[in-house]
Amino acid sequence: MSVFANTLDRAPLGAEVPSAPPLRPAGRQPTGRAGASASLEGVSFSFASDRVAIETTSLHVEAGEFVCLVGPSGSGKSTILNLLAGLLAPSAGRVLEDGAPIAGPSPARAVVFQDAALFPWLTLQQNVEYPLALQGVPKAERAARSAELLRTVHLLRFAASYPHQLSGGMRQRGAIARALATDPKVLLMDEPFAALDAQTREILQGEVERLFLETRKTIVFVTHNVREAVRLADRVVLMGTRPGRVLREVPIALERPRRTGDASDARVHAYAAELAAGIRDEVEKIAKEEADDAWVAPGGGVRVDPRRNLGSGI
Ligand SMILES: Nc1ncnc2c1ncn2[C@@H]1O[C@H](COP(=O)(O)OP(=O)(O)O)[C@@H](O)[C@H]1O
Ligand SMILES: [Mg+2]
Repeated sequence: MSVFANTLDRAPLGAEVPSAPPLRPAGRQPTGRAGASASLEGVSFSFASDRVAIETTSLHVEAGEFVCLVGPSGSGKSTILNLLAGLLAPSAGRVLEDGAPIAGPSPARAVVFQDAALFPWLTLQQNVEYPLALQGVPKAERAARSAELLRTVHLLRFAASYPHQLSGGMRQRGAIARALATDPKVLLMDEPFAALDAQTREILQGEVERLFLETRKTIVFVTHNVREAVRLADRVVLMGTRPGRVLREVPIALERPRRTGDASDARVHAYAAELAAGIRDEVEKIAKEEADDAWVAPGGGVRVDPRRNLGSGI
């Protein structure tokens, strides 16, 4: 099914067809280290149980590109992120940063997980300074850098607060600040907003886009939410299951910064609807396999609402 070639032809609500819009506003200087490219070349990964998590998968993320991975549970999204982070080593194939094989985890590649892994016994400031302390950065410099990062994520006032004193959204912002502390080239985010309410989520999506435009870091962002993927990505990678692999890649030709508004929302919706249909096909495939063909798609082929999270709990 090659649904994406003509996505915009079938855009609902008279969505405009974009004419090669600029992806970034001109004239802004990136701050800190800019992004590195990250790739998987013919990578397979099996867990010790012999369960194949991903099979012969290639993926190239350009330096300074924002790529979102979407797909049902079990399609290997987290595995890919952990391979790119160097937390897992491939069973076959190569994982590269700027064309060189990676040997393991590095401060150049920071990860943000779904549940902010802030240390509960440290204040926000101490959490952000922690990776710098590990690197032996002097105290005064750590304090200056953490203040700058907390200001960036609008949490400077809460520097002395402990994680339990903060909301979920604030904790995730804190985790992003901590991930940026070592000025990584690649930021890897595994469903970072999945546990947040819709409104907080939207605010943080805007924040992440702003950070992306300001820093030009390479970002690989995993989400169950196709609308979130379209809102954020330069390119969405749709993953399939059994075994986990890349099914298709969809460039998102929407200018940045992405604002909400009728025309823009219609275009986001058009992309999201196609991606949702692609995921629904995958989920149906799994359900059929599990039910031995006795399974019938609910709703008689009605498409799943792309504004909802898809694939969670499957
Ligand atoms: N620690 C593990 N041990 C064995 N199998 C695992 C482990 N983690 C994940 N898997 C399997 O690997 C596949 C991919 O998992 P994962 O990368 O977590 O997918 P996703 O993030 O897309 O939900 C799934 O079939 C999952 O069951
Ligand atoms: Mg996962």
